[in-house]
Amino acid sequence: MSTREKMIELFMEAPEGLISGEQLSTALGVSRTAIWKHIKLLEEDGFEFAAAPRVGYRLTRVPDELMAALVAPNLRDCALGSQILWAPERTSTNDTATELAKSGAAHGLVVTAARQTGGRGRQGRAWQSPAGGMWFSILVRRPCAISQAGDLTLLASVAVWRALAAMGVPAEIKWPNDLLLNGRKICGILAQMRTDGESVEYAVIGIGMNANFLRDQFPPDVRQYATTILSELAREVHRPALLARILTELDQLYRDLKTGVGGFAAVRDEWTAHAHTLGRKIRVRMGEQIVEGVAEDVDARGVLSLRGEDGVVHAIHSGEVLFSDLEKL
Ligand code: BTN
Repeated sequence: MSTREKMIELFMEAPEGLISGEQLSTALGVSRTAIWKHIKLLEEDGFEFAAAPRVGYRLTRVPDELMAALVAPNLRDCALGSQILWAPERTSTNDTATELAKSGAAHGLVVTAARQTGGRGRQGRAWQSPAGGMWFSILVRRPCAISQAGDLTLLASVAVWRALAAMGVPAEIKWPNDLLLNGRKICGILAQMRTDGESVEYAVIGIGMNANFLRDQFPPDVRQYATTILSELAREVHRPALLARILTELDQLYRDLKTGVGGFAAVRDEWTAHAHTLGRKIRVRMGEQIVEGVAEDVDARGVLSLRGEDGVVHAIHSGEVLFSDLEKL
């Protein structure tokens, strides 16, 4: 946990949010000048403090950042979120989580950031990550066969769907694992796995949620197919509560899968029930190739069946469904 995160925790535990500079400096092992600098940086991130003369600082406003001190109180009996590392800015939370995984970080680590400067999407695309969004990566260290690797992302999209529904956000799932609101993308998932050729050693599941900022902040090409919760619903979501709910749902889905409750077929049925894609005429890009047809089914492994105009059914393991009338080919 960073000094700033520890500082927030101390303020939140202090009676009436009031704490002296000296107490902070002793508890954190840094100078009073360093404390003052951290206070200024926290103010840049939306925290507000009132100076209490001769007493210290009082925390008067806490922004809804994805910090351990704000997320953890909403987590109960959840292995995911065992450690939550927030920073005001990271290149990519997936990169940080992968580095930490390589150096032995434990299952359930969640890396978050207020902004990303090099956010990455699927197919090597850049991912716009301004302040107000939710940018986080979950380390899942539960070995499984490579053939089951895709299950994890399907599970993640169902977990996000459930969490959004619980917060009154009526999303739909677009194959393989995007979430749409009013037909435009609000969430994408980028899973990166480390394998030994046969099994998955760990997976980093990166989730980007366009939450509390306006769609106008996207460049014009992105604005065509992406939107934000704030723009669509004209209200903000409480980001720490939404993250806690996503982690809880994913943990539960994962446990049910492991203990055999319903098995993967139950997850797939839930995915299908909320799918935007099925029954529609779509175009799918697979590398350089584009296939057009009606999306008929997604099987237990997440493979999409697409019936072309010639009646031939294509089994599509990975690709990108194009927003046919919105996205240029
Ligand atoms: C997509 O292309 O739909 C996937 C987007 C995934 C974005 C998230 S934001 C948090 C994590 N860090 C990244 O750099 N990417 C993922």
